[in-house]
Amino acid sequence: MKVAVVGKGGAGKTTTAAVVARTLSRLGGPVVALDCDTNANLGLSLGLGWDATDELADLRSDLAEGEVEHEPTWSGLVARFGSDAPDGVRLAVVNRIEDPEPG
Ligand SMILES: Nc1ncnc2c1ncn2[C@@H]1O[C@H](COP(=O)(O)OP(=O)(O)OP(=O)(O)O)[C@@H](O)[C@H]1O
Ligand SMILES: [Mg+2]
Repeated sequence: MKVAVVGKGGAGKTTTAAVVARTLSRLGGPVVALDCDTNANLGLSLGLGWDATDELADLRSDLAEGEVEHEPTWSGLVARFGSDAPDGVRLAVVNRIEDPEPG
């Protein structure tokens, strides 16, 4: 099952996504949460904490700046760009790549 949460700014998307992800994971999972927001703060709502949330965003920035290699596989993407959050949710930051070069 794939669930996408969209809506106007400040409507509650991040809060809703976190509650849905944690609830589904508690019910049996596995759940992968993908933060597609350019201001990636889903980690905070998932209970990951400030430092780990910032680290995921920084890792994503390094990719955009060509400092790390792109990841061609789904499992590799979730492993390299993800972090384990409470309730068993795996979070990865996968927001839009503005400049696909290099790689
Ligand atoms: N059901 C709710 N009832 C009351 N307040 C809520 C509810 N859901 C979210 N909020 C509050 O509304 C504010 C915006 O929520 P949230 O950050 O989830 O929205 P968003 O749509 O992700 O915003 P953005 O567009 O900035 O990413 C937060 O302060 C959040 O705590
Ligand atoms: Mg949000």
